[in-house]
Amino acid sequence: MSESLATVSYLGATILFILCLGGLSNQETSRRGNLYGIIGMAIAVLATVFGPRVGSTGYAWLIGAMAVGATIGIYAARTVQMTQMPELVALMHSMVGLAAMLVGFANYIDPVTATGMTGAEKAIHEVEIYVGILIGAVTFSGSVIAFGKLSGKISGNPLLLPARHWINLAGLLVVIYFGREFLHASSISDGMTPLVVMTAISLLFGIHMVMAIGGADMPVVVSMLNSYSGWAAAATGFMLSNDLLIVTGALVGSSGAILSYIMCAAMNRHFISVIAGGFGTTGGTPAPAAGGVQPAGEVVPISAPETSELLREAKNVIIVPGYGMAVAQAQHTVFEITRLLREKGVNVRFGIHPVAGRMPGHMNVLLAEAKVPYDIVFEMDELNDDFPQTDVAMIIGANDIVNPAAQDDPNSPIAGMPVLEVWKAKTSIVMKRSMASGYAGVDNPLFYKENNRMLFGDAKKMLDEVLVSLKS
Ligand code: TAP
Repeated sequence: MSESLATVSYLGATILFILCLGGLSNQETSRRGNLYGIIGMAIAVLATVFGPRVGSTGYAWLIGAMAVGATIGIYAARTVQMTQMPELVALMHSMVGLAAMLVGFANYIDPVTATGMTGAEKAIHEVEIYVGILIGAVTFSGSVIAFGKLSGKISGNPLLLPARHWINLAGLLVVIYFGREFLHASSISDGMTPLVVMTAISLLFGIHMVMAIGGADMPVVVSMLNSYSGWAAAATGFMLSNDLLIVTGALVGSSGAILSYIMCAAMNRHFISVIAGGFGTTGGTPAPAAGGVQPAGEVVPISAPETSELLREAKNVIIVPGYGMAVAQAQHTVFEITRLLREKGVNVRFGIHPVAGRMPGHMNVLLAEAKVPYDIVFEMDELNDDFPQTDVAMIIGANDIVNPAAQDDPNSPIAGMPVLEVWKAKTSIVMKRSMASGYAGVDNPLFYKENNRMLFGDAKKMLDEVLVSLKS
């Protein structure tokens, strides 16, 4: 393939990647978006493999590597559970970081690139290598630790070393100093020492950065590492003078940064304080001593037949799914109930909180899998004002995202977090197994409100019973 055809293919792939991101922003267009991404990636791989830079001797290596990578990828994609998705993503980011590191070293010792450059060109190339390895090493070690924390292999507690910010600052200064040494090195072997020292410091920094972050903030960190992996890929693109890798890396880097920001806003967390670490519980373990007023009052249980009676009599119903629906795999029964109610003329809608579940879009994916129509699934801001006109708000395995303490109690650990105002509905029904708190470990005063009912039990089991009653 000629250089110009490869360039045109790269351009086409870039456009497809941008269309892919645009498509993924909406449920109705997300399949098409995914397809654009697949075609774009296929074009990118073909243009690279058959491009002018790969000699015929390289094919065996490429095919071998792609076969191994594809086998592992297909196996992981087929076997991973939905709830394990964040750890898989973390592991994949570590691969991008590792690749950026290895490409950096290979590029530095490559005799072809090393001899051909002088002056400013050489300096720029070496800065690319230094920065590329730095970002790659931080991404690699940080992602490995994130994987360990998410999979429970490493404790979710934040590791807070004394003077940790000073340690980080000292590391940064040492990295800058060795960067200068690297640029002034007269030979490859001279430059190797500062490069290796910087790599070791960057690896330690990545470990330290993620170890300092609490379990509750880990998904934000995964999204942040996603952003880093994009910048690592972009740095690799600069090293290899590959325009497509630069653009794709920048797309991943910036979209990861935007996603991290959105997640922080939805959890009422400051981005900088997440990065600085030290906040967050062990992740999912209730923290009863957490600040705020202890809710008091009477908890009124309700049975499945009574729930179905309320639903049958309702005109407007809003369903709020949360992490418990994912755990119970109750989405298909939710769909059946929705269909039945809609056939009876009930206006049923879904309210989705931006951080419901354990990863961005978690609930949307489950509802789409159960074939719930997109046009009745709304984001929190789109229907939060409609609760006063709603007869029944049905909360399925959700807790933090419907906690009124976020608005009423300035001392609550989740004070200020935007929540779905389900308590404003005529009746709210919370489906969960016990009175246990949710991910943030905060008690929920909603359970004690006069117009609230508790349907205790596994969400799937209870919804099955509701469905049977509705049918009878
Ligand atoms: P949570 O507040 O974690 O509440 C989920 C509830 O589901 C639990 O209280 C649990 O109560 C119940 N549950 C668990 N298994 C169940 C089952 N089989 N049947 C019925 N109920 C079950 O979840 P949420 O309301 O979706 O809020 C999400 C939380 O995760 C927020 O705090 C958010 O900040 C955090 N978070 C989310 C993300 C993203 S991106 N989505 C990222 C980081 C953190 P029982 O044990 O009593 O059943």
